[in-house]
Amino acid sequence: MWPENVGIRAIEVLFPSQYVDQTELEQFDGASAGKYTIGLGQTKMGFCSDREDVNSLCLTVVTRLLERHQIKPQEIGRLEVGTETIVDKSKSVKSVLMQLFADSGNTDIEGIDTTNACYGGTAALFNSINWIESSSWDGRYALAVCADIAVYAKGAARPTGGAGAIAMLVGTNAPLVFERGLRATHMEHAYDFYKPDLSSEYPVVDGKLSIQCYLSALDTCYQLYRKKFAKKYPNATEVGLDNFDALLFHTPFCKLVQKSVARAVFNDFLLCSAEKRALKYPGLERFNDATLASTYFDRDVEKTFMTQFAHVFEAKTRKSLLLATEVGNMYTPSVYSGLVSLLVNNAPEQLVGKRIGVFSYGSGLAASMYSILVTKDDKVFQQFVAKLDYVLPLLNAREKVAPEVFSQLMEVREKNNHAAPYTPSGSVSALFPGTYYLKEVDDKHRRTYERTLTITNGVH
Ligand code: CAA
Repeated sequence: MWPENVGIRAIEVLFPSQYVDQTELEQFDGASAGKYTIGLGQTKMGFCSDREDVNSLCLTVVTRLLERHQIKPQEIGRLEVGTETIVDKSKSVKSVLMQLFADSGNTDIEGIDTTNACYGGTAALFNSINWIESSSWDGRYALAVCADIAVYAKGAARPTGGAGAIAMLVGTNAPLVFERGLRATHMEHAYDFYKPDLSSEYPVVDGKLSIQCYLSALDTCYQLYRKKFAKKYPNATEVGLDNFDALLFHTPFCKLVQKSVARAVFNDFLLCSAEKRALKYPGLERFNDATLASTYFDRDVEKTFMTQFAHVFEAKTRKSLLLATEVGNMYTPSVYSGLVSLLVNNAPEQLVGKRIGVFSYGSGLAASMYSILVTKDDKVFQQFVAKLDYVLPLLNAREKVAPEVFSQLMEVREKNNHAAPYTPSGSVSALFPGTYYLKEVDDKHRRTYERTLTITNGVH
């Protein structure tokens, strides 16, 4: 017998304490007014100075989750990290996190790092769930951690940066249950976004191709998900977007997600029988012979489906974009920041018993679509969501930094990436309480971290 109701028991999010305003960034970059805010759908972009790296982000988010939920280090039996922010080609972030378990004596923790662009977090989560559903499981929790610092060279991609970390405690009898048999995956070889220069934090990006890869992976995953759904629920009267109460996406920038919802509707439209199509999609006959492959940049298809089905985006997806617009692309945590946004942006009773669809995408490319069922136990769910009461106050407590200062801090990162020995110059007082930060890198590239003071109850 498999253990029942395996899924997310607790979730913790971390975002930078400083941000740059996208309207101000448009002016600073000499971009036309509205390009980043309306064109890309971004409001603010979180960023890290040289005081933070992927290790410090993970140390902070894991510590906060364990503290907030009073989980003892001995209760963790597996710890997985998904990231594409590589500071060492051999030593894993997971091994750095083992410092947090040293005092407890718990070294019996399986799992290691997984990398493929923004997909690593989903791989970490799937590995965690698979472990609990396997014969290797020893009854303890798994912890799936994802973190990235998303930075781009100056140019068109820079406003689509961001940073953050998410930790998810995985176990049985969870408030958010992974629906069995409903994972649809698509992987293929593509050079849409990649990081071949190991001395640089910046990726090489083919912007247009990356959007096409994202949308085509969505098409394939969604169509496969639909097939698996029909097989699992042969009596379902409807197979399509109506099956989801909420729909989350990996979010490189919010406008692409708005287009993705329209794209999913377009898939439903193409897969509809002729009679149903006339009833459900009146006035769209001119698209009857359209194909997926020929429409990735078809303005008529895009605009028509975005406009006519704006209510689908409003009802199922808009609320999940809070952190994505306020912080930017977090890479691996991005889609899970969508989950946190959904949870903090709805009254819990609106989500009890509902199905949440999730689309995770990582360039290169790896993508999955799956679904989560929210527990029907409203008390349990309320307690689960109440633990996220820090998110909105923390978001509002961030410090706005001028684009000039942001740009200088980016130059400091750029110049000193992989420098050794190195003492970071970024402000420690600008960090939130309870944040781990890089103290120094010694002449052998060994990194040491310290933590800012926590507030009275030990968590922020
Ligand atoms: N007011 C309003 N809108 C404006 C505007 C203005 N003044 N000026 C431009 N726009 C609109 C454009 O019309 C366009 O919108 P539509 O596509 O809806 O027409 C939008 O702003 C973007 O402008 P451009 O098409 O000129 O694009 P760009 O050259 O600025 O580049 C980008 C945009 C390709 C996304 C670039 O930012 C980039 O390369 N980003 C990184 C790659 C990325 O995020 N890819 C997404 C898929 S890959 C993935 O998901 C993995 C990942 O996390 C990276």
